[in-house]
Amino acid sequence: MVHEVRGVVAGKVGAKVSLETILVPDPGPGEALVKVQACGVCHTDLHYREGGINDEFPFLLGHEAAGIVESVGDGVTDLEPGDFVVLNWRAVCGRCRACRRGESQYCFDTHNAAQPMTLADGTPLTPALGIGAFADKTLVHSGQCTKVDPAAKPEVAGLLGCGVMAGIGAAINTGGVGRGDSVAVLGCGGVGDAAIAGARLAGATTIIAVDLDQQKLEWARRAGATHTVDARTDDVIESIQRLTGGNGADVVIDAVGRPETFKQAFYARDLAGTAVLVGVPTPEMTLELPLIDVFSRGGAVKSSWYGDCLPSRDFPMLIDLYLQGRLDLDAFVSDTIALDEVERAFDDMHAGRVLRSVVKL
Ligand SMILES: NC(=O)c1ccc[n+]([C@@H]2O[C@H](COP(=O)([O-])OP(=O)(O)OC[C@H]3O[C@@H](n4cnc5c(N)ncnc54)[C@H](O)[C@@H]3O)[C@@H](O)[C@H]2O)c1
Ligand SMILES: [Zn+2]
Ligand SMILES: [Zn+2]
Repeated sequence: MVHEVRGVVAGKVGAKVSLETILVPDPGPGEALVKVQACGVCHTDLHYREGGINDEFPFLLGHEAAGIVESVGDGVTDLEPGDFVVLNWRAVCGRCRACRRGESQYCFDTHNAAQPMTLADGTPLTPALGIGAFADKTLVHSGQCTKVDPAAKPEVAGLLGCGVMAGIGAAINTGGVGRGDSVAVLGCGGVGDAAIAGARLAGATTIIAVDLDQQKLEWARRAGATHTVDARTDDVIESIQRLTGGNGADVVIDAVGRPETFKQAFYARDLAGTAVLVGVPTPEMTLELPLIDVFSRGGAVKSSWYGDCLPSRDFPMLIDLYLQGRLDLDAFVSDTIALDEVERAFDDMHAGRVLRSVVKL
């Protein structure tokens, strides 16, 4: 059976997204059909719409979602209809060279559904990050479904599917933030604030939030920032150094992803400190640094793909922390919207009015 549902489609570079009828097949072997309950609007959806990720238009956007498994295909044994799941874009293969050496968080061959979802005329859609969840239903690989405690609200649980996990993981998994560390986060949207919340969870004692927007800095304080720096008026590197005894922070996380912010992250860390790039640059961006500084400052310069998370390990754990009141994920949901309001949510994101708009279905 083919399911005729609504989906948010980006048709061509830079054009506004539109709500279309899409066709979603029943799950084949290893696949799961999920009734989407909530899906957050991530900056990466906007990158897709602007052609910043690749040019495989049309895209079915949305990738930060939670929902209920409606049906599963042959051979799926660890999921059943009715399960409450967070969708992930890291269904690890277990066989690639990263998986074989026990580092599945880097899996180089993750699974997606094999069958395409299409427009009504049969044009295949490219689902954002292999998910495509701004839709009433979506088809994914069963490994993309991570069961979590159904006591969590879908609009909150879904956030772990991308931005919040990326931010928390950038701090804890990639940056290795530990008790007593100093951390600076550049860019305090959903991802940056999650990095702040992650740093707090890990026991960092100095957490510096940097943004161009006062409202964002205020929200960053709520997420756990102990200090804020207004990048419009203050020198970012000097401010971070001043707030860390003149040294720079142990870990600096760039949650913007531009050459200028990454340079700030590089120079605002202490000697032997770590700079983490979690914001996604666009293909034309380049970075120039004196090689002597790369050498003489020591430490590590790392990229964080999806917070180096293992969904099966990290999603249930973070949901448990949320349900215990130790991780305030409600604070990330600024607005709940309808499926036909994604374009407005992009405007709100641009204008800095929201941390996350979440589509509720
Ligand atoms: N690495 C990953 O796995 C992963 C996962 C999800 C999202 N992302 C990326 O993370 C980035 C952030 O996503 P988001 O959803 O939080 O976006 P967002 O638009 O909500 O937040 C970005 C923030 O950066 C601030 N900002 C912009 N330029 C700045 C500058 N020069 N200095 C300081 N602050 C600045 C903005 O004011 C805003 O608050 C995006 O690039 C997104 O694509 C990466
Ligand atoms: Zn693998
Ligand atoms: Zn995302």
